[in-house]
Amino acid sequence: MSGISLCGVSLAGPVLNGSGTFDVIAARRAFGDGLLERFPFHAYVSKTITLEPRRGNPPPRLWETPAGMINSIGLPNKGLEGFLAEDPPRIAEVPVPLVVSVMGFSRDELATLVEAVGAREEVALIELNVSCPNVETGLIMGADPGETARAVERLRPFTEKPLIVKLTPNATDPSAVAGAAEDAGADAVSLVNTLKGMALHPRTGEPWLGGRTGGVSGPAIRAIALEQVAAVSAAVRIPVVGMGGIASGHDAADFLAAGAAAIAVGTESFIDPAAGRRIAAELAAIERVDAPVEANSVR
Ligand SMILES: Cc1cc2nc3c(=O)[nH]c(=O)nc-3n(C[C@H](O)[C@H](O)[C@H](O)COP(=O)(O)O)c2cc1C
Repeated sequence: MSGISLCGVSLAGPVLNGSGTFDVIAARRAFGDGLLERFPFHAYVSKTITLEPRRGNPPPRLWETPAGMINSIGLPNKGLEGFLAEDPPRIAEVPVPLVVSVMGFSRDELATLVEAVGAREEVALIELNVSCPNVETGLIMGADPGETARAVERLRPFTEKPLIVKLTPNATDPSAVAGAAEDAGADAVSLVNTLKGMALHPRTGEPWLGGRTGGVSGPAIRAIALEQVAAVSAAVRIPVVGMGGIASGHDAADFLAAGAAAIAVGTESFIDPAAGRRIAAELAAIERVDAPVEANSVR
């Protein structure tokens, strides 16, 4: 697998994990140091951290759908201070660059998070999860180009580390949001986050998930994600990290062909924690086979 440069950071290949779908500290407890020797991803993305600690949503938090799942985890995390005190040295033992995902409920919160996380030498890139309401305006930051631009402009001076803005698919025009992020100083965009969804309790007809609604992920959303990645890739000059239902090397190759510079594996890691490694190997084999053959050959 040939290496890539993502916003100036060298990666041994293009396969990342989707934020929140691979807990490296828990995985190391389960699989031991072998995990580090055969690490499944070429960069590691932390789960999203917020300024204050969060307990997350009440259970149940997961519902399996045909070809995917709905999660209503609600971003439980130790908050910025708890994260900085405990996690970066442990996470930094992974043999790949570290991306830390942050979410703020106001532009000031985002600036605080980005400044503190960016100051840590273990951190190579920062991902902004903008799938949350801005308490100042009530708007979902990443659903609106103006909101996204104001958020990125506000925090851009607080770090020189590359900023990836993670787009929500629950926007009228993700390309317009991506363009606004680029104009405001984002170094890359990633997409898609989960699509809003719901499941009902089979007997009561009430919402099954403790958070009532949740985010749909997995192969069920792949075609939607692929279209959004293609549209956004055509609209911006900065690199695009594509994700949404990637479960095989062929899926990954599709996202790269649609314009992504790198891809991320999320839900598939719940089925197989080594999925990232398998997908990278399958992708490398496709590249080897495809390169010398005529353009209309079957993959
Ligand atoms: C259980 C679960 C937790 C997630 N947590 C986060 C998170 O903390 N931050 C974030 O930006 N995205 C989070 N996501 C979204 C994924 O990173 C990814 O964008 C999405 O699931 C689509 O990719 P997939 O279909 O391969 O899972 C989460 C997804 C799942 C399934």
